[in-house]
Amino acid sequence: SAVGTAQIGVTGLAVMGRNLARNFARHGYTVALHNRTFARTQSLVAEHAADGTFVPSESMADFVASLARPRKVVIMVQAGAATDAVIDELVPLLEEGDIVVDAGNAHFPDTIRREAALRERGLHFVGTGVSGGEEGALNGPSIMPGGTAESYASLGPILEAISAKVDGVPCCTHVGPDGAGHFVKMVHNGIEYADMQLIAEAYDLLRHGLGASAPEIGEVFAAWNTGDLESYLIEVTAEVLAHTDAATGAPFVDVVADAAEQKGTGRWTVQNGLDLGVPITGIAEATFARALSGSAPQRAAARGVLPADTLEWNVPEPGAFIEDVRLALYASKVVAYSQGFDQIAAASAQYGWDIDRGAMARIWRGGCIIRAKFLDRITQAYERDANLPLLLADPYFTAAVANGVAAWRRIVAAAAVHGVPTPAFSSSLAYYDGVRADRLPANLIQAQRDFFGAHTYRRTDRDGTFHTDWSGDR
Ligand code: ATR
Repeated sequence: SAVGTAQIGVTGLAVMGRNLARNFARHGYTVALHNRTFARTQSLVAEHAADGTFVPSESMADFVASLARPRKVVIMVQAGAATDAVIDELVPLLEEGDIVVDAGNAHFPDTIRREAALRERGLHFVGTGVSGGEEGALNGPSIMPGGTAESYASLGPILEAISAKVDGVPCCTHVGPDGAGHFVKMVHNGIEYADMQLIAEAYDLLRHGLGASAPEIGEVFAAWNTGDLESYLIEVTAEVLAHTDAATGAPFVDVVADAAEQKGTGRWTVQNGLDLGVPITGIAEATFARALSGSAPQRAAARGVLPADTLEWNVPEPGAFIEDVRLALYASKVVAYSQGFDQIAAASAQYGWDIDRGAMARIWRGGCIIRAKFLDRITQAYERDANLPLLLADPYFTAAVANGVAAWRRIVAAAAVHGVPTPAFSSSLAYYDGVRADRLPANLIQAQRDFFGAHTYRRTDRDGTFHTDWSGDR
């Protein structure tokens, strides 16, 4: 058989796989290439030979044979059945100690299952989150590898080399065992949903409150991008709002249909939040807001029918209103991130992953969609206290939010009386007031549960579990 020299292999050469392969080659690695349909492999080599050294193979067997040991094979095909099909074809050709990397968007329970199956055969399986889309894959993504620490020792340097860098620090680190990498990528996407929904609510408030046009609102976002909110998503928002539709000459967003779609990672994040009992209300509201936008029959039945009974907008000081919206957006964003990091902590404990939350914020600073200056502050918070129970309660974030709480309340109240739906702003404020409350009305819930179901309750004045005989009260 052929003598393997390639340092890394990529199978699945659609857009993402092709760009990852080119990125490896540009960093000086000899890259083995494979794709089910050989034409894709050939076109990559023909078009991008200048990127570096590629070793194309038509068969999976030749592809495997072209790799140096321990072999490192990156699979970049659709999540689900296609990934299993490729693993099934690949695994019999591999030898003990080889490393299989799934860089697709797998659901983390699938990654846990695959890791266990390959470990049985003496292979490493590294489920890896890759964020940043096509552009990131080519020029530097944020990379979130799971799997064994042993596999990271040889694979990690290659992944770090092709990852985005911020201040010279790679946006790639070993997340934790088995499914930890894909889990963290999932939460990243959930946070992205929340971030986008909050931005959309801010836009909607400025549109209604000020009667501002899309390009005018774009200027507000461009200004915000020079402060605490500086981030890729705010920058993108400013650009999108400034964009003119070529066909009509109208602001682009005004001709885009208002039904948001989703591929399902938000839903996975929310489902897991429910499984773990973590209130990720920002992500959940963002996911449900997309669902509501796409609920055409319900919206048609309600539009123009359900009474609004709203006040007329009257904003005498637009500058002050814009600043209130900015502060409400920032505070709500801190809540969404705080909740997402709570979910990572809960999963880490539940699945035995020992995830360093500060390191997650660090590798999200570049390459990915939620990249932002703000993430440095999160890393610093976990450096101050690795076991921080609540990101919101870190002194920096407590002070940052305190500065905007009054504005946040004004905005949520204004949204309510003027009939602008702000599920993420509103629920984030409700979470903030809930988590800081001295006493929540859960006492009444427990009393009710004991009344109708003898579910028992605990007391404020004594240890133990109690049940009251309610028969005399009925
Ligand atoms: P895109 O939509 O950008 O083309 P995609 O559909 O997400 O990308 O991924 C398609 C990739 O998965 C392709 O490399 C495809 O191989 P082909 O080029 O032969 O179509 C690969 N793929 C999908 N299903 C597969 C399977 N069952 N076995 C092997 N490769 C598969």
